[in-house]
Amino acid sequence: MKIGVIGAGTMGNGIAHVFSIYKHSVVLVDLNEEILTNALGNIKVNLSRQLKKGLINQDTLNNAEKSIIISTNIHSLESCDLVIEAIKEDLDLKKNIFKKIDLICKKETILASNTSSISINSLANCTNRPQKVIGMHFMNPVPVMKLVEIIKGDNTSGNTINTIINLSKDLKKIPVECNDSPGFVSNRILMPMINEAAHCYSEKIADADAIDSIMKLGMGHPMGPLKLADLIGIDVCVSILQVLYDGFKNEKYKPSKILIDMMKNNKLGEKTGEGFYKYEL
Ligand code: CAA
Repeated sequence: MKIGVIGAGTMGNGIAHVFSIYKHSVVLVDLNEEILTNALGNIKVNLSRQLKKGLINQDTLNNAEKSIIISTNIHSLESCDLVIEAIKEDLDLKKNIFKKIDLICKKETILASNTSSISINSLANCTNRPQKVIGMHFMNPVPVMKLVEIIKGDNTSGNTINTIINLSKDLKKIPVECNDSPGFVSNRILMPMINEAAHCYSEKIADADAIDSIMKLGMGHPMGPLKLADLIGIDVCVSILQVLYDGFKNEKYKPSKILIDMMKNNKLGEKTGEGFYKYEL
Protein backbone atom coordinates (compact mmCIF):
# COMPACT_ATOMS: atom_id res chain seq x y z
CA MET A 1 0.00 0.00 0.00
CA LYS A 2 1.14 3.56 -0.57
CA ILE A 3 0.94 5.43 2.71
CA GLY A 4 1.00 9.19 3.24
CA VAL A 5 1.97 10.61 6.60
CA ILE A 6 1.42 14.29 7.33
CA GLY A 7 3.61 15.75 10.06
CA ALA A 8 7.18 14.56 10.59
CA GLY A 9 7.39 15.07 14.36
CA THR A 10 7.89 12.25 16.85
CA MET A 11 4.69 10.42 15.99
CA GLY A 12 4.83 11.01 12.24
CA ASN A 13 8.37 9.71 11.92
CA GLY A 14 7.55 6.70 14.09
CA ILE A 15 4.53 5.90 11.92
CA ALA A 16 6.57 6.25 8.70
CA HIS A 17 9.26 4.01 10.23
CA VAL A 18 6.83 1.20 11.09
CA PHE A 19 5.13 1.18 7.69
CA SER A 20 8.49 1.21 5.93
CA ILE A 21 9.72 -1.97 7.62
CA TYR A 22 6.58 -3.83 6.58
CA LYS A 23 7.17 -3.13 2.87
CA HIS A 24 4.84 -0.18 2.37
CA SER A 25 6.00 2.85 0.45
CA VAL A 26 5.68 6.02 2.46
CA VAL A 27 5.43 9.68 1.54
CA LEU A 28 6.24 11.78 4.60
CA VAL A 29 5.01 15.35 4.27
CA ASP A 30 5.75 18.37 6.42
CA LEU A 31 5.84 22.11 5.75
CA ASN A 32 9.29 22.33 7.25
CA GLU A 33 12.28 20.92 5.36
CA GLU A 34 14.47 20.76 8.48
CA ILE A 35 11.88 18.72 10.40
CA LEU A 36 11.74 16.30 7.47
CA THR A 37 15.51 15.91 7.38
CA ASN A 38 15.62 15.38 11.15
CA ALA A 39 12.81 12.84 10.86
CA LEU A 40 14.81 10.80 8.35
CA GLY A 41 17.80 10.96 10.72
CA ASN A 42 15.67 9.70 13.63
CA ILE A 43 14.23 6.91 11.54
CA LYS A 44 17.79 5.80 10.61
CA VAL A 45 18.86 5.79 14.26
CA ASN A 46 15.80 3.79 15.32
CA LEU A 47 16.16 1.33 12.43
CA SER A 48 19.79 0.76 13.46
CA ARG A 49 18.65 0.13 17.02
CA GLN A 50 16.32 -2.56 15.72
CA LEU A 51 19.06 -4.02 13.51
CA LYS A 52 21.51 -4.24 16.44
CA LYS A 53 18.92 -6.12 18.48
CA GLY A 54 18.19 -8.51 15.62
CA LEU A 55 14.58 -7.33 15.31
CA ILE A 56 15.15 -6.56 11.63
CA ASN A 57 17.90 -7.59 9.19
CA GLN A 58 20.12 -5.46 6.96
CA ASP A 59 17.90 -6.01 3.89
CA THR A 60 14.83 -4.78 5.75
CA LEU A 61 16.74 -1.74 6.96
CA ASN A 62 17.98 -0.92 3.45
CA ASN A 63 14.54 -1.37 1.90
CA ALA A 64 12.88 0.63 4.67
CA GLU A 65 15.24 3.54 4.12
CA LYS A 66 14.60 3.45 0.38
CA SER A 67 10.83 3.28 0.76
CA ILE A 68 10.40 6.62 2.53
CA ILE A 69 10.15 9.75 0.39
CA ILE A 70 9.99 13.17 2.01
CA SER A 71 8.16 16.17 0.60
CA THR A 72 7.04 19.66 1.57
CA ASN A 73 4.25 19.51 -1.01
CA ILE A 74 0.93 18.11 0.19
CA HIS A 75 0.04 17.28 -3.42
CA SER A 76 2.63 14.46 -3.22
CA LEU A 77 -0.10 12.56 -1.37
CA GLU A 78 -2.46 12.36 -4.33
CA SER A 79 -1.78 8.72 -5.20
CA CYS A 80 -1.73 7.37 -1.62
CA ASP A 81 -4.16 4.64 -0.55
CA LEU A 82 -4.12 5.73 3.08
CA VAL A 83 -3.14 9.11 4.50
CA ILE A 84 -2.45 9.43 8.22
CA GLU A 85 -2.45 12.93 9.67
CA ALA A 86 -0.04 13.37 12.58
CA ILE A 87 0.26 17.13 12.96
CA LYS A 88 -0.02 19.02 16.23
CA GLU A 89 -3.16 18.81 18.33
CA ASP A 90 -4.99 21.81 16.94
CA LEU A 91 -8.57 21.36 15.76
CA ASP A 92 -8.53 24.14 13.14
CA LEU A 93 -5.21 23.03 11.65
CA LYS A 94 -6.43 19.45 11.47
CA LYS A 95 -9.75 20.47 9.90
CA ASN A 96 -7.87 22.42 7.26
CA ILE A 97 -5.65 19.46 6.46
CA PHE A 98 -8.64 17.14 6.17
CA LYS A 99 -10.38 19.55 3.79
CA LYS A 100 -7.23 19.71 1.65
CA ILE A 101 -6.48 16.00 1.51
CA ASP A 102 -10.13 15.24 0.76
CA LEU A 103 -9.73 17.33 -2.39
CA ILE A 104 -6.25 16.05 -3.28
CA CYS A 105 -6.57 12.28 -2.73
CA LYS A 106 -8.35 9.78 -4.94
CA LYS A 107 -11.84 8.90 -3.82
CA GLU A 108 -10.90 5.42 -2.50
CA THR A 109 -8.24 6.79 -0.14
CA ILE A 110 -8.83 6.31 3.59
CA LEU A 111 -8.09 9.41 5.63
CA ALA A 112 -6.92 8.62 9.17
CA SER A 113 -5.90 10.80 12.05
CA ASN A 114 -3.36 9.95 14.71
CA THR A 115 -5.01 12.53 16.96
CA SER A 116 -4.68 11.87 20.68
CA SER A 117 -8.01 13.37 21.62
CA ILE A 118 -9.73 15.43 18.93
CA SER A 119 -13.13 14.28 17.66
CA ILE A 120 -12.95 12.04 14.59
CA ASN A 121 -16.48 13.13 13.67
CA SER A 122 -15.42 16.77 13.51
CA LEU A 123 -12.64 15.84 11.06
CA ALA A 124 -14.86 13.47 9.06
CA ASN A 125 -17.47 16.22 8.69
CA CYS A 126 -14.93 18.42 6.88
CA THR A 127 -14.73 15.89 4.09
CA ASN A 128 -17.01 14.43 1.44
CA ARG A 129 -16.06 10.92 2.55
CA PRO A 130 -16.94 10.57 6.26
CA GLN A 131 -17.30 6.80 5.73
CA LYS A 132 -13.57 6.71 4.92
CA VAL A 133 -12.38 8.72 7.92
CA ILE A 134 -11.09 6.96 11.02
CA GLY A 135 -8.80 7.43 14.03
CA MET A 136 -5.60 5.39 13.91
CA HIS A 137 -3.93 6.32 17.16
CA PHE A 138 -0.39 4.99 17.58
CA MET A 139 1.48 5.15 20.87
CA ASN A 140 4.89 6.67 21.51
CA PRO A 141 7.50 5.25 20.83
CA VAL A 142 5.67 3.94 17.77
CA PRO A 143 8.21 1.24 16.78
CA VAL A 144 7.96 -0.27 20.30
CA MET A 145 4.37 0.08 21.53
CA LYS A 146 1.92 -2.64 20.48
CA LEU A 147 -1.36 -0.76 20.62
CA VAL A 148 -3.18 1.02 17.84
CA GLU A 149 -6.34 2.61 19.23
CA ILE A 150 -8.88 2.51 16.40
CA ILE A 151 -11.49 5.26 16.72
CA LYS A 152 -14.72 4.83 14.83
CA GLY A 153 -16.59 7.96 13.79
CA ASP A 154 -20.40 7.87 13.54
CA ASN A 155 -20.14 7.34 9.78
CA THR A 156 -16.97 5.26 9.50
CA SER A 157 -17.84 2.26 7.32
CA GLY A 158 -17.28 -1.37 8.25
CA ASN A 159 -14.96 -1.66 5.25
CA THR A 160 -12.78 1.20 6.46
CA ILE A 161 -12.61 -0.27 9.97
CA ASN A 162 -11.67 -3.72 8.65
CA THR A 163 -8.99 -2.33 6.33
CA ILE A 164 -7.37 -0.40 9.17
CA ILE A 165 -7.60 -3.31 11.59
CA ASN A 166 -5.97 -5.68 9.10
CA LEU A 167 -3.32 -3.15 8.23
CA SER A 168 -2.49 -2.64 11.94
CA LYS A 169 -2.12 -6.41 12.30
CA ASP A 170 0.20 -6.45 9.25
CA LEU A 171 2.39 -3.99 11.16
CA LYS A 172 2.47 -6.53 14.04
CA LYS A 173 0.44 -4.15 16.18
CA ILE A 174 -2.65 -4.94 18.21
CA PRO A 175 -5.64 -2.84 17.13
CA VAL A 176 -8.35 -2.14 19.72
CA GLU A 177 -11.57 -0.38 18.74
CA CYS A 178 -13.45 2.34 20.54
CA ASN A 179 -16.04 5.02 19.77
CA ASP A 180 -15.43 8.70 19.25
CA SER A 181 -15.38 10.60 22.55
CA PRO A 182 -12.97 13.23 23.94
CA GLY A 183 -9.57 11.61 24.61
CA PHE A 184 -11.04 8.26 23.46
CA VAL A 185 -10.03 5.62 26.04
CA SER A 186 -6.24 5.93 26.22
CA ASN A 187 -5.94 9.60 27.04
CA ARG A 188 -9.14 9.92 29.03
CA ILE A 189 -7.51 7.57 31.52
CA LEU A 190 -3.82 8.44 31.09
CA MET A 191 -3.99 12.25 31.17
CA PRO A 192 -5.80 12.64 34.52
CA MET A 193 -3.03 10.47 36.03
CA ILE A 194 -0.31 12.67 34.53
CA ASN A 195 -2.18 15.81 35.66
CA GLU A 196 -2.49 14.43 39.20
CA ALA A 197 1.23 13.57 39.24
CA ALA A 198 1.94 17.18 38.22
CA HIS A 199 -0.26 18.39 41.12
CA CYS A 200 1.69 16.14 43.53
CA TYR A 201 4.93 17.59 42.19
CA SER A 202 3.85 21.25 42.45
CA GLU A 203 2.42 20.69 45.95
CA LYS A 204 5.83 19.21 46.88
CA ILE A 205 4.26 15.95 48.05
CA ALA A 206 7.40 14.31 46.60
CA ASP A 207 10.09 15.09 44.04
CA ALA A 208 9.85 13.91 40.43
CA ASP A 209 11.99 10.82 40.98
CA ALA A 210 9.96 9.75 43.99
CA ILE A 211 6.61 10.27 42.24
CA ASP A 212 7.80 8.25 39.26
CA SER A 213 9.38 5.53 41.42
CA ILE A 214 6.16 5.12 43.42
CA MET A 215 4.14 4.57 40.25
CA LYS A 216 6.80 2.34 38.64
CA LEU A 217 7.51 0.13 41.62
CA GLY A 218 4.06 0.23 43.15
CA MET A 219 1.89 -0.11 40.07
CA GLY A 220 4.24 -1.87 37.68
CA HIS A 221 4.22 0.98 35.15
CA PRO A 222 7.22 0.84 32.78
CA MET A 223 7.79 4.55 33.24
CA GLY A 224 6.58 7.04 35.88
CA PRO A 225 3.90 9.61 34.89
CA LEU A 226 6.23 12.64 34.93
CA LYS A 227 8.86 10.94 32.79
CA LEU A 228 6.06 9.83 30.48
CA ALA A 229 4.76 13.42 30.30
CA ASP A 230 8.25 14.46 29.19
CA LEU A 231 8.25 11.73 26.54
CA ILE A 232 4.80 12.66 25.23
CA GLY A 233 5.51 16.41 25.38
CA ILE A 234 4.12 18.80 28.00
CA ASP A 235 2.37 20.84 25.27
CA VAL A 236 0.66 17.69 23.97
CA CYS A 237 -0.46 16.77 27.51
CA VAL A 238 -1.91 20.26 28.02
CA SER A 239 -3.78 20.23 24.73
CA ILE A 240 -5.26 16.78 25.43
CA LEU A 241 -6.35 17.85 28.94
CA GLN A 242 -7.90 20.95 27.39
CA VAL A 243 -9.91 18.80 24.95
CA LEU A 244 -11.11 16.66 27.89
CA TYR A 245 -11.93 19.75 29.97
CA ASP A 246 -13.84 21.43 27.12
CA GLY A 247 -15.52 18.18 26.09
CA PHE A 248 -16.76 17.04 29.50
CA LYS A 249 -16.97 20.47 31.20
CA ASN A 250 -15.53 18.86 34.28
CA GLU A 251 -12.94 20.57 36.51
CA LYS A 252 -11.11 17.30 37.09
CA TYR A 253 -9.60 17.54 33.61
CA LYS A 254 -8.37 21.15 33.95
CA PRO A 255 -4.64 21.23 33.09
CA SER A 256 -2.60 21.91 36.24
CA LYS A 257 -0.93 25.30 36.56
CA ILE A 258 2.51 23.74 36.55
CA LEU A 259 1.90 22.07 33.16
CA ILE A 260 0.69 25.38 31.72
CA ASP A 261 3.69 27.24 33.14
CA MET A 262 6.12 24.65 31.79
CA MET A 263 4.51 24.98 28.39
CA LYS A 264 4.83 28.78 28.44
CA ASN A 265 8.51 28.43 29.39
CA ASN A 266 9.19 25.96 26.57
CA LYS A 267 9.95 23.18 29.08
CA LEU A 268 8.20 20.69 26.86
CA GLY A 269 10.11 17.56 27.93
CA GLU A 270 12.57 15.47 25.93
CA LYS A 271 12.13 17.47 22.73
CA THR A 272 13.29 20.79 24.23
CA GLY A 273 15.88 19.32 26.61
CA GLU A 274 13.92 20.08 29.77
CA GLY A 275 10.62 19.10 31.32
CA PHE A 276 10.29 17.51 34.74
CA TYR A 277 13.81 16.19 33.97
CA LYS A 278 16.74 17.48 31.92
CA TYR A 279 17.85 15.84 28.65
CA GLU A 280 20.79 16.18 26.32
CA LEU A 281 19.67 17.35 22.91
N1 CAA B 1 12.52 3.07 18.16
C1 CAA B 1 12.92 1.79 18.25
N2 CAA B 1 13.19 1.18 19.43
C2 CAA B 1 13.04 1.93 20.57
C3 CAA B 1 12.62 3.27 20.55
C4 CAA B 1 12.35 3.84 19.26
N3 CAA B 1 11.92 5.10 19.13
N4 CAA B 1 12.56 3.71 21.83
C5 CAA B 1 12.91 2.69 22.61
N5 CAA B 1 13.20 1.62 21.86
C6 CAA B 1 13.57 0.28 22.33
C7 CAA B 1 14.93 0.23 22.93
O1 CAA B 1 15.92 0.03 21.97
C8 CAA B 1 14.80 -0.95 23.88
O2 CAA B 1 14.89 -2.22 23.28
P1 CAA B 1 15.33 -3.53 24.11
O3 CAA B 1 14.53 -3.57 25.37
O4 CAA B 1 15.01 -4.66 23.16
O5 CAA B 1 16.79 -3.32 24.34
C9 CAA B 1 13.38 -0.86 24.35
O6 CAA B 1 12.68 -0.07 23.40
C10 CAA B 1 13.37 -0.25 25.67
O7 CAA B 1 14.03 1.01 25.60
P2 CAA B 1 15.08 1.56 26.63
O8 CAA B 1 15.97 0.45 27.10
O9 CAA B 1 15.70 2.78 26.05
O10 CAA B 1 14.24 2.10 27.84
P3 CAA B 1 13.12 1.42 28.68
O11 CAA B 1 13.38 0.00 28.98
O12 CAA B 1 12.88 2.38 29.77
O13 CAA B 1 11.84 1.44 27.71
C11 CAA B 1 9.96 2.49 26.82
C12 CAA B 1 11.43 2.62 27.10
C13 CAA B 1 9.67 1.46 25.75
C14 CAA B 1 9.54 3.87 26.30
C15 CAA B 1 9.22 2.07 28.14
O14 CAA B 1 9.64 2.86 29.21
C16 CAA B 1 7.73 2.21 28.04
O15 CAA B 1 7.05 1.33 27.58
N6 CAA B 1 7.22 3.35 28.54
C17 CAA B 1 5.81 3.68 28.47
C18 CAA B 1 5.54 4.35 27.16
C19 CAA B 1 4.10 4.71 27.03
O16 CAA B 1 3.30 4.65 27.93
N7 CAA B 1 3.76 5.15 25.81
C20 CAA B 1 2.43 5.63 25.54
C21 CAA B 1 2.43 7.11 25.70
S1 CAA B 1 0.85 7.77 25.39
C22 CAA B 1 0.82 7.99 23.75
O17 CAA B 1 1.74 7.82 23.03
C23 CAA B 1 -0.48 8.42 23.21
C24 CAA B 1 -0.81 9.80 23.28
O18 CAA B 1 -1.75 10.16 22.61
C25 CAA B 1 -0.16 10.80 24.15
